[in-house]
Amino acid sequence: MNGADTQALMGGRPLRRVVFDVEEISARVARMGREIAEAYPEGESLLVLGLLKGSFIFMADLIRHIARPLQIDFLVAASYGSGTETSGEVRLLYDPEAVLEGRHVLLVEDIIDSGTTLNRLMPLLRKRQPRSLELCALLHKHIAATLVQEPRWVGFDAPREFLIGYGLDHSENYRNLPFIASL
Ligand code: IMP
Ligand code: MG
Repeated sequence: MNGADTQALMGGRPLRRVVFDVEEISARVARMGREIAEAYPEGESLLVLGLLKGSFIFMADLIRHIARPLQIDFLVAASYGSGTETSGEVRLLYDPEAVLEGRHVLLVEDIIDSGTTLNRLMPLLRKRQPRSLELCALLHKHIAATLVQEPRWVGFDAPREFLIGYGLDHSENYRNLPFIASL
């Protein structure tokens, strides 16, 4: 993507900097897919659960590098909150139809920031008695005070900046940037 395309895509708003470019992302996602495949016994299928909306592009790329039989589903979580501070309550707006019990479940998240979403979601999913429950995040800011479960796979350690692109939004914009940038 050239400068003029990026300009058009951003609607004229300037980017601070590109943090991870297209080539870096694609190489890392391919490697993660291979690492994930190796972690599961050959012949056993896994259920890949994407946390919408932010993970949709990452997940689409990732699963094409996981050489295992797999199924996918999504979930949509909303955190209650007033203003900018979330109360820590998480509600499922869309609950996956797929049965988790007895399955190898891999939850795919775009970015781990405060960890609130995952801290609420993981116990909820664990209650459904999956055979295994692992977490994969494209980006990890490493600022969460406590995480109920550390991601087993992380794409990149993220700077403590607000990131957009490759699925990540700012007020629902910029998800279609092919790279990850800071606003
Ligand atoms: P957490 O619950 O604070 O860990 O936040 C997780 C969610 O907040 C992510 O799934 C994103 O949707 C959103 N988020 C956190 N940091 C960023 C960012 O830098 N850019 C875009 N979205 C973010
Ligand atoms: Mg978001």
